Amino acid sequence: MFSPHASGADRPQRLRASAAVRGLVRETRLDPAAFVLPLFVRDGEGVRDEISSMPGVFQLSVDEAVKEAQEAAGLGVGGVLLFGIPAHKDAEGSAASGDDEAVQRATRAIKEAVPDLAVITDVCLCEYTDHGHCGFIGTDGELQLEASLPQHVEAAISHARAGADLVAPSSMIDGVVGAIRQGLDSAGFDHVGIFSYAVKYASAFYGPFRDAADSAPAFGDRRTHQMDPANAREALREAALDVAQGADMLMVKPAVAYLDIVRQIRDAFPDRPLGAYHVSGEYAMLKAAGARGWLDERRAVLETLTSLHRAGADVIITYYAAEAARWLKDGE
Ligand code: PBG
Repeated sequence: MFSPHASGADRPQRLRASAAVRGLVRETRLDPAAFVLPLFVRDGEGVRDEISSMPGVFQLSVDEAVKEAQEAAGLGVGGVLLFGIPAHKDAEGSAASGDDEAVQRATRAIKEAVPDLAVITDVCLCEYTDHGHCGFIGTDGELQLEASLPQHVEAAISHARAGADLVAPSSMIDGVVGAIRQGLDSAGFDHVGIFSYAVKYASAFYGPFRDAADSAPAFGDRRTHQMDPANAREALREAALDVAQGADMLMVKPAVAYLDIVRQIRDAFPDRPLGAYHVSGEYAMLKAAGARGWLDERRAVLETLTSLHRAGADVIITYYAAEAARWLKDGE
């Protein structure tokens, strides 16, 4: 009978016998420089409104967002992703492109306070429309998403004007990346990159985000433009279209239920940095179980983020960015 103790047996356990050797042969390592912390910004001063379904995550006024960004940068976090909660919503989401709206002001303030932190802005209309859809609604009550492309472009240009390093179109409307690329170039912002939410699924895991950003659709859902969770080949088609239209970086979202997609996009587009967005519902699950003592939050989070990196994500967008950076710094 085979014995692992026989002379010459190949025994993987040899390399697990001590923390020293485990550390030496570890294949993937998390680096906070590749973490992006999403921030929800709004009007006011000194505002920190905790989101009930996302403990530890807040709607922040610009002054508070700057503090949060400084703290994250101090922990080594590489970037922030800004979402706006506007004071005024209308059918066209006109506040999305206002130069004095919260996202634009926060971009300027964060770039001034922490110039080395990458500022990425989410470009979508769902937070800004009174009906909560990512584009316009026609007179027949049907979504007219393509008609809203010029407003997406105006929003992206206003973010670039405020100093955003990258803009991140998240509405999954066909052609949005190409429209934004052209718009940025003709407005003199050809140096501003596009981090495309290229592969975004119509997911139940966005639930808490829609509380956070107050962006739940008033009727209907997003299945006519976000992807069907059952599809993988289509993800390659979406990513190819976005690369052809000028996406500098690609994203897969959500993350944990889509690790196979992360791996496939990584392999199919080796020259594009790839991000995985560990979304609100994924955060909420870990927070809730951790708070009840049902699992060790710190270990579960670091294991989860490691799995995203191992699957092929270069950049990890997570509400845990600052906390995970602190855990990594404090060591095992
Ligand atoms: C759209 C957008 C959404 C998220 C990021 N950008 C919501 C949606 O598509 O409904 C979700 C992020 C998360 O759940 O953490 N602006």
